[in-house]
Amino acid sequence: MLAESNSLLSVPTGTLKISEFPHTNGGENCESIYFSLVVPTYKERDNIENVVRILSQLLDELMPGDYELIVVDDDSPDGTWEIAQSLMPEYPQMRVMRRQHERGLSSAVIRGWQAARGQILGVIDGDLQHPPEVLMQLLRSIKEGADLAVASRHIEGGGVSSWSFTRRLLSRGAQLLGLIILPRVLGRVSDPMSGYFMVRRSCIVGLTLYPVGYKILLEVIGRGNVDQIAEVGYVFCERKEGESKVSWKQYVEYIYHLLRLRLATTRWGRFSQTIDFPISRFIRFGLVGLSGVFVDMAVLYLLSDPTTLALPLTRSKIVAGEIAIFNNFLWNDAWTFADVAMRQQEWRQRLKRFLKFNMICLAGLVLNLLVLNLVFNFIIANPYIANLIAIAFATIWNFWVNLKLSWQVTQVK
Ligand code: GDD
Ligand code: MN
Repeated sequence: MLAESNSLLSVPTGTLKISEFPHTNGGENCESIYFSLVVPTYKERDNIENVVRILSQLLDELMPGDYELIVVDDDSPDGTWEIAQSLMPEYPQMRVMRRQHERGLSSAVIRGWQAARGQILGVIDGDLQHPPEVLMQLLRSIKEGADLAVASRHIEGGGVSSWSFTRRLLSRGAQLLGLIILPRVLGRVSDPMSGYFMVRRSCIVGLTLYPVGYKILLEVIGRGNVDQIAEVGYVFCERKEGESKVSWKQYVEYIYHLLRLRLATTRWGRFSQTIDFPISRFIRFGLVGLSGVFVDMAVLYLLSDPTTLALPLTRSKIVAGEIAIFNNFLWNDAWTFADVAMRQQEWRQRLKRFLKFNMICLAGLVLNLLVLNLVFNFIIANPYIANLIAIAFATIWNFWVNLKLSWQVTQVK
């Protein structure tokens, strides 16, 4: 027997891609097992021990040694991860991941799956609101051939214990909205908001998931190759310890998630995947560029117009251009390349990215002038058409270089 160690799992980095084999630290045993169950936690110190004990008892009986529990904690200030870690000697099938540089429920689940060794990947809340017994029925459905087994509040045997009218209304409203925006995804299950489900690794292998907020099941159905879906009714229990982390922010994120998934699963989205060009990112980049034109114009007017500050034109234009570049940078960082920026949030890194963006834009400006002159002098003697072509070139250049440099700064350690 190997000595039981209680070292933490290393946190996978990079894109949220599920590979055929688990991410490992090197020395670790990575033989495949049957089932990996991720338990995402944030401030669950009063629940963690119960959850781990109940789940372990259940799974030890069902499949001794052939499962693992993966607790993924986002560095909870109440020390949930530490408690989980201290339980490791007692529960050898449990592994613990402490994330310090990323947060959010969905990405926690995927990071857990990336470290998982199971052929079946599952998730369950860490607050006992998801009844553990239902695991047996979910596992049975998978054994019987389902690709995805979802615990549902909205079929026979399901329900919510004592939700207020408002919460029920909000939940159903969100579902209805989802059905309108993404019928082909939400129409497939009765409870698309469920955070209690399991899926075959083979259905999501090789895929990069882009979840926002809470609803990871939408990603799995929307992007995965899921054929057969089974549902098992369950009653969403009341919380006994701790509190829910749901706020209005999750509703906003949910709508954003729906729209993005919609874009990715339309013909355009699929086309952009086959030709390997990020169309939606390019559209965002283009829109941001357009906003920059307005900023540039407005500032130029404010600075140079005889009725306002009446400063010299060239100086005004330099300031206007720089402010527009700053504007574009902010939007691109927060929107176009948000997924990348999320991983490099330090102020130093942001500043470096901004300087880099500035250089690229400057080179873009030179290209702009060059193309404008070439086209105007040799091809089309119309300055506006020539300028349009020049702008198109510069935009593509700017986008392409930023994309190739991955909107990242290299970190020297
Ligand atoms: N690692 C990590 N990071 N875990 C988190 C985070 C986070 O940022 N936010 C929440 N969690 C964990 C919680 O500790 C809990 O174990 C689980 O995720 C669910 O969070 P709650 O805050 O308890 O959510 P809820 O009970 O209101 O919401 C649940 O709604 C659905 C039904 O509408 C969802 O989480 C679903 O799982 C559930 O089925
Ligand atoms: Mn909960």
